[in-house]
Amino acid sequence: TAILLKDYRPSDYVIDKVDLDFLLDTQETVVTSKLTIRRAKGVATDAPLELDGDELKLVSIAINNSALARDDYTLNDDGLSITQLPDSDAFTLEIVTKINPTANKKLMGLYRTSGNFCTQCEAEGFRRITYYLDRPDILSVFTVRIEGDRDTVPLLLSNGNCTDKGELDNGRHFAVWHDPHPKPAYLFALFAGDLGVLKDSFTTRSGREVSLEIYVEHGKEPRAAYAMDSLIRSMKWDEEVYGCEYDLDIFMIVAVSDFNMGAMENKGLNIFNDKYVLADPETATDQDYANIEAIIAHEYFHNWTGNRITCRDWFQLCLKEGLTVYRDHSFSADERSAPVKRIAEVRGLRAHQFPEDAGPLAHPVRPQRYSEINNFYTSTVYEKGSEVVGMFKTIVGEDGYKRALDLYFERHDGDAATIEDFIKCFEDATGADLKQFALWYDQAGTPNLAIGTNYDEANKRFTVNITQSLRSTVVTGEVAPMHIPVRFGLVGPEGSDLSFSGVTGADVTGDVIHVREPKHTIQFEGVEQKPVISVLRGFSAPVTTIPERSDKELAFLARRDSDAFARWEALSSLAMRQLRQATKDVQQGEEISTSPELTTILHEILNDDTLEPAYRALCLNLPSEADIAREIGSDIDPDAIHTARTHILAAISQECLVSLEATYSKLQPAKPFVPDASSAGIRALRNTALGLIVRANGDLELVANHFANADNMTDRMDALSILALQAPYAEETASALEAFKKQYADNAIVTDKWFAIQAMMPGSNALERVEALSKAENFSWENPNRVRSLFGSFAIGNPTGFNRADGAGYRFLCDATGRLDEINPQVAARLITAMRSWRNLEKDRAGHAHEALKTLAAKKKLSRDVRDILERTLA
Ligand code: ARG
Ligand code: ZN
Repeated sequence: TAILLKDYRPSDYVIDKVDLDFLLDTQETVVTSKLTIRRAKGVATDAPLELDGDELKLVSIAINNSALARDDYTLNDDGLSITQLPDSDAFTLEIVTKINPTANKKLMGLYRTSGNFCTQCEAEGFRRITYYLDRPDILSVFTVRIEGDRDTVPLLLSNGNCTDKGELDNGRHFAVWHDPHPKPAYLFALFAGDLGVLKDSFTTRSGREVSLEIYVEHGKEPRAAYAMDSLIRSMKWDEEVYGCEYDLDIFMIVAVSDFNMGAMENKGLNIFNDKYVLADPETATDQDYANIEAIIAHEYFHNWTGNRITCRDWFQLCLKEGLTVYRDHSFSADERSAPVKRIAEVRGLRAHQFPEDAGPLAHPVRPQRYSEINNFYTSTVYEKGSEVVGMFKTIVGEDGYKRALDLYFERHDGDAATIEDFIKCFEDATGADLKQFALWYDQAGTPNLAIGTNYDEANKRFTVNITQSLRSTVVTGEVAPMHIPVRFGLVGPEGSDLSFSGVTGADVTGDVIHVREPKHTIQFEGVEQKPVISVLRGFSAPVTTIPERSDKELAFLARRDSDAFARWEALSSLAMRQLRQATKDVQQGEEISTSPELTTILHEILNDDTLEPAYRALCLNLPSEADIAREIGSDIDPDAIHTARTHILAAISQECLVSLEATYSKLQPAKPFVPDASSAGIRALRNTALGLIVRANGDLELVANHFANADNMTDRMDALSILALQAPYAEETASALEAFKKQYADNAIVTDKWFAIQAMMPGSNALERVEALSKAENFSWENPNRVRSLFGSFAIGNPTGFNRADGAGYRFLCDATGRLDEINPQVAARLITAMRSWRNLEKDRAGHAHEALKTLAAKKKLSRDVRDILERTLA
């Protein structure tokens, strides 16, 4: 039963006020909900009131204080329909339900984590707490009373401001929270339990004093310091860059260790997966610090883009997610290195979103149908959604973007809005015609640009032919041409961009070509020298490109392009060509060919002190095995890719060994440890050099020492990864893994790194290793982080082990998914998406994968979540 965007209609009833009362109990929590309801204008008095509900025990219902008779309403599996309603348009409805938080292993609704009570309501978890109009366009003012045991749950938190609290008999106490901002139910949150707190404060631009509180397990308060620092920087940045101020007197973050996703932006009370809060040098890598900064910012930024302006319905999810991801990316770019951040974003987009868009789970940034909304929290909605916002800015310019966003905040504050509303703000604020551009929201698939050039020396004319095409697995019928902003430069022989006196064949504004037609022949006049075109600078659109460029031209751009992103891109393309050729060589049993040019450029970059270390590290990390597989696209043989890549990296490293060793010994990050971007960059380059040294000379002792002497988790983890991934069978690896396990046995977040790295170790016994780990006493099927670390890392991060030729890896993942589905469908459904690209494998592997998926699909009791993914994956 799919839900369709075109079927949207406003609710017949609205809820102006909600009073919730929780009598907390581990097995039987009693929830009393008093709703102040209003019939919408023009709705007939006999229109039934249909409330959502899921796994609730109904105790009583009353309207205007009088109890309903049993035949005044009907109860079914997904809700409650009330047919006997007063004639008056306004009435109150009081519903009492009972729920069992301890039995809630789906981690949606009210559940227990480490003995505490916690909620997750987005997207449809509130209906697991009480019967409600659980849809984002129902905005209501919430008042929440929580009562529980003083000893076991000293902390009683909800959204907004605490307006009352006190002691009760029998060792109980209570607190009342009031949130003045009307909000949809998915932003409701409750936390009750026993935690420590780190406090700080922030004064907003207009003088509001805000208490900041981050709640973590007792004793871990110092490890929340970086999260607090990130929060304060986020609050300041949002005021300065977007003019968005915080709007309550208190902002709380609670860290829990059982959480289905990264974090949740509940109004005034964000709830976080603790791995995105807790950090210190001993336990967190530089990447962990960067993630914490980004996710703290993301959830905080939702206060305006998500909470003050929310979504009309779940089809509009990208309205808040795409925009908020774009905002957190911009924040990180400002706080760190913009080009390095951009390259990492693009790598992530290509690794996750492109395959999604090219496979059976492809969907538009704004989907038009879903059967389970939780399956649409995807990289298409989030990351491609963010790219679309970035393209708006490229098209209307910095200034236009600012005016459009100001208008959006002014016009839609307090609304449950749509993508059309958002686009209209850009049109009204800038006068731009964005009708064609809006297709980005509706048309799935990654467009491709084929680009050819020609230089006419005599007439000083440079011609660029651009053809766009879109192959989509899910769009049926006509595909319309898109509006694609292509940032470009005509790079002259000296490396600087050449000017031109005129242009025909496309709109060119500044350094942007607006591709709108299926085909453009663009002529640049007055180009004095023969240029090499640099296209898609800064990755100005989420497309694939096939520029007709020689290795020589790529090498030139890799050395000379003034755009850091395009430079990296040229280098990656050059490397990719070589890696693909090497894979072919392996498959055909030929000697692997190498190109001296690539090695020379990498060597130059390694030694170029004018480039920031983080950038050099990115350049030296050649495309991954998964990147190569994706580029090959069909008939994929992961073993051949692994052999080819290993060979090429060894060859390059041998050529550069002296410089690599010099880099490794010369570079020293600041001591004591600072988690800032520049120190992180130094560690990244140094540890990349270490990995390459080992590829060249196999000096495992050097890595083992790096591991043993590390005074921070980045160095320790990088060393451990080099050992595990490059020398899976070495004694040094076994003993490092053992030492690591012992040292961090009491730290679940670090233990997850230990699971993950072992799940990624290549070799013929990878599956056996993972199977054994799934039975280890420190593994738990109920904890999403553990499950993702082990099974997720195996399926996504171990191309040879997971894709072993006999198909046992696929059967294993499908079995695990089936088992997990009985506990946590949302996490199970996410896990099995790892097999979405099964059709791209060589035919024997594809056959095994297909069989395994069909066997899982034949299971009788599957959740809607997993069934939806399987149906689409197999369709
Ligand atoms: N809104 C949250 C965020 O982006 C994520 C919620 C995910 N919810 C879900 N049902 N998967 O930060
Ligand atoms: Zn979000």
